[in-house]
Amino acid sequence: MNFIDSFQVKENKLFFSGKDLNDLAEKYGTPLIVYSRKIIEDNIDRLNESLNFNNFSLHYAMKANYNPALLSIIRNKNVGIDAANFNEVSLALRIGFKKESIIASPNNLDRRELLNIKNTGVTINFDDISQFETISDSPPDTVSFRINPGIGKGEFEGTTTGGKGSKFGIPPDIAINGYKMAIKSGVQRFGIHMMTGSNVLDASFFRESIGIFFSIASRIANETGIDFDFIDIGGGFGVPYRSGENPLDLKKLGLYISENISKFKDLFKNKTRLIAEPGRYIIANSAIILTKVTSVKSYDKYIIGTDTGMNILIRPALYGAVHPIISVNRFYDKAEKKGDIVGQICENTDRIGKDVEIQKCEIGDILAILNGGAYVASMSSNYNLLPRASEILIDEDRLFLIRRKEELDDMISTFIIPEHLKLREK
Ligand code: LLP
Repeated sequence: MNFIDSFQVKENKLFFSGKDLNDLAEKYGTPLIVYSRKIIEDNIDRLNESLNFNNFSLHYAMKANYNPALLSIIRNKNVGIDAANFNEVSLALRIGFKKESIIASPNNLDRRELLNIKNTGVTINFDDISQFETISDSPPDTVSFRINPGIGKGEFEGTTTGGKGSKFGIPPDIAINGYKMAIKSGVQRFGIHMMTGSNVLDASFFRESIGIFFSIASRIANETGIDFDFIDIGGGFGVPYRSGENPLDLKKLGLYISENISKFKDLFKNKTRLIAEPGRYIIANSAIILTKVTSVKSYDKYIIGTDTGMNILIRPALYGAVHPIISVNRFYDKAEKKGDIVGQICENTDRIGKDVEIQKCEIGDILAILNGGAYVASMSSNYNLLPRASEILIDEDRLFLIRRKEELDDMISTFIIPEHLKLREK
């Protein structure tokens, strides 16, 4: 992958989805997240083309980005939702996703929260038997358990969600007891779920993990007599973040999944739905973050200070993640030296790029950070009392502000000073 291909170049200026990036930074200010509707729609189309199995549904994992404007684009493409909790379920319902097209994969909820989801009619992938037991006196129509198939793979340890020691899911033997318990409680419809890790570029991992998962599902079906209404393979489909990385081969992924469907054909009855829950694949490359250079230091290390730090983009500090970064003003120059790109946060981990080969930077320059759509805005914070970024959407040739930058009053609106501590005129 050569990331300059994500842009268009006209008269020595850099464009994203048809818009001049310097103009956008000037018009809306920085930090600014710029989304392209077309890229989101193309990503969905590509997934649907390659994964065109019978009775197949995509459910977008909205934890990747729950901006309501973006959810609306995704709803219009007839994609469903994977929600992490009751708030995400509620937002999806408000945006107009039908309850049948939402699935919830929460973990460690209390009884009230689980009942809240159940009462919307949305199906839950229970993360543990104890989560089902918490509401088994009022069981949902459909019960699904999240299986830990014993293997996991993610780009980082922090984004691996299956395998030994994982906080998620239950081992197959235990799951069998869960399904039996649900049958005893009168439940008649069942699903099964797994999610083993995020940002996997190697299609053959999915061949292996889905094979193991389907064989576990077959065993459970045989031992309990259950016919599954749905089989949910989770998300995890990766996108390149480093130059030279190859994109996930979707054709192979489709082929590997259909091979597994044929191999375990007894599992798939007429009504059985296959579900995948990609988040990153749908949204990551649909956005870039624009940031302004606010200082340049060149002492023992080349340090480029910007207005975008770990409050806007926490992935590098949290996982050691890498995002491609390119100078919007000087993209045509050769990268001059390696530097760290840092923000305004009072932490030494506040680096959005480490040892980045970047063009010479000067105060006032604009940089573009790629793959800004997934796990960026949704993981941003007000640390150091800084606002989250503004967000805009490019929709054909129109521009829409889809999130305004927070003001100080927005950020402190939920704090309460007890009356007796307030400053009083003496
Ligand atoms: N389904 C479930 C139940 C999940 O937990 C996740 C992600 C997904 C689907 C979507 O995974 P995706 O297709 O986006 O890989 N914050 C991390 C990623 C954590 C993913 C957690 N679960 C990051 O910034 O890389």
